[in-house]
Amino acid sequence: MELTEAIYKRRSVRKFKKETISLDDINQIIKAGILAPSAKNRQPWFFYVINDESTKELLLQRLQKGFDNLLEQNRQNNIQRPDIESARLTLNSIEQASALIIVTCRKKYIFSHDDNVDWYLNARDIEVSDLLSIGAAIENMILKATDIGYGSLWVCDIFYAYAQVVEFLQTQDAVVSAICIGRNNEFPIKKSRLPLEDVCLFIK
Ligand SMILES: Cc1cc2nc3c(=O)[nH]c(=O)nc-3n(C[C@H](O)[C@H](O)[C@H](O)COP(=O)(O)O)c2cc1C
Repeated sequence: MELTEAIYKRRSVRKFKKETISLDDINQIIKAGILAPSAKNRQPWFFYVINDESTKELLLQRLQKGFDNLLEQNRQNNIQRPDIESARLTLNSIEQASALIIVTCRKKYIFSHDDNVDWYLNARDIEVSDLLSIGAAIENMILKATDIGYGSLWVCDIFYAYAQVVEFLQTQDAVVSAICIGRNNEFPIKKSRLPLEDVCLFIK
């Protein structure tokens, strides 16, 4: 598939067929991710792959618990949070996905950017550049998934159950995103975009 075709064809897919995904396909997708550019070539990413149903079920139980805790806290404090209910729907997509890839920023890069470069950026700015690098990797991955016939969903709703995800992974990394991958069980129409003129200015 041409790059342009993949860019135009990619959609956020939220319903997947119950099919297994081959290790080779998962590897191809992750390899596309690690070819992304990264600030100072730090390659701050790490990928946790869940492609078996029982492991995913354990994670889903933790995620449910995280959402339940949050809703209960808000209920006790009389706070309405419709965003939590809507974010919870993403768990259905995770449940259906053939593979879930949780992407983290490696701890080493969060706490010590000690590569002897005379940085004039502060640590936070460097963290931003690491997050941008990871975003570039994820974009490569979802385009590669499109290229080889899979649907994908970039997921940040796991942040609502952040502590549970970290505990599940037993990691000290920062959890940045997750990606659902599977064969499409829906073909969403293209979502609208702001016109070019509204988001672009040629400065003269
Ligand atoms: C950083 C990021 C996080 C996202 N998190 C979620 C999510 O948790 N759940 C979800 O259903 N969609 C999520 N999305 C998908 C967006 O809703 C989607 O990209 C947007 O509506 C545009 O639709 P399209 O991807 O089909 O063009 C996320 C997208 C991005 C880039």
